[in-house]
Amino acid sequence: MKQTLLEELHLSLTADVPFISPKFFYDEIGSHLFDVITLLEEYYPTRTEQWIMDAHRAAIAKAIGDCDVLLDLGAGNCAKASQLFSSIKPKQYRALDISKEYLEAAVADLQKQFPQIAMRAQAIDLSLPMAFPDISNLRKIFFFPGSSIGNYDPEKADQFFTNIAQECHGNGGLLIGVDLVKDRETLHLAYNDPLGVTAAFNLNILLHVNRIMGSNFHLPNWEHVAFFNESLSRIEMHLRARADLEVILPSDGTKEHVIQFKVGDLIHTENSYKYTQEDFTEKLHRAGFDNIQTWTDPKKYFLVCFANAKN
Ligand code: AVJ
Repeated sequence: MKQTLLEELHLSLTADVPFISPKFFYDEIGSHLFDVITLLEEYYPTRTEQWIMDAHRAAIAKAIGDCDVLLDLGAGNCAKASQLFSSIKPKQYRALDISKEYLEAAVADLQKQFPQIAMRAQAIDLSLPMAFPDISNLRKIFFFPGSSIGNYDPEKADQFFTNIAQECHGNGGLLIGVDLVKDRETLHLAYNDPLGVTAAFNLNILLHVNRIMGSNFHLPNWEHVAFFNESLSRIEMHLRARADLEVILPSDGTKEHVIQFKVGDLIHTENSYKYTQEDFTEKLHRAGFDNIQTWTDPKKYFLVCFANAKN
């Protein structure tokens, strides 16, 4: 049975360890705040990935080879994929994202610029297994940039990769960007910027939740917490209660649920896993990929990989 967002939030907020899925960051304000994060000096991933893609454009295209269909996972505004069109020359482009409305407008715009590429927007929930029966015989290249994979627990990431390798049918592959383990200070600052944009991004999730659920999270009662959990190799983001307080979740017309928080209690909002190059390529191997080629920046902050599906 498909869970509604309301049911999902209700369950996660009343769990033993309360959490909110990071997908709830991206309402209109949250999406804009994320765009601002990518402009911050301290937030190196976006610009480093862009640098790698620019510096190694020809080599990346050569590694990929022929591309019948470029499948853009979590396409958003399609900007990153469209930069690949001139080097990779896909015959078809399929933009995939959770919401189709936004996607369709972006794809329609892009179609005008690139009339020779057949384009389609498709709504997809990346947390579920994917299948593309209509293009099963074509050589598919999956594109998953931005270290979005960092939000997945390692076991979830393994399943996701296995699913993609199978969808490739021993032909095609995956072009993916992932954030690398580095010194604590650099990691910490990227999620604790002095301007407070990441804090605003984190807190805004409560406004989004209030809108969906009709709950009464009051922002001045909460503070942004982000730290590097070294043993799990991930940045964790939480919201911490500044006082003992109650939050009312009017989940439906009949039952009202009150959650009690003590000062210092946390709501877990995000994990952002950081990998070593060795661990990450090993993971791709285990999932059914082969011939993995990697590109990085001079400081080795970020990694771009192309992995061929094993045939
Ligand atoms: C979009 C998941 C890659 O983990 O760095 C940025 C999200 N969270 N700052 C990341 C994010 C706080 C971002 N990803």
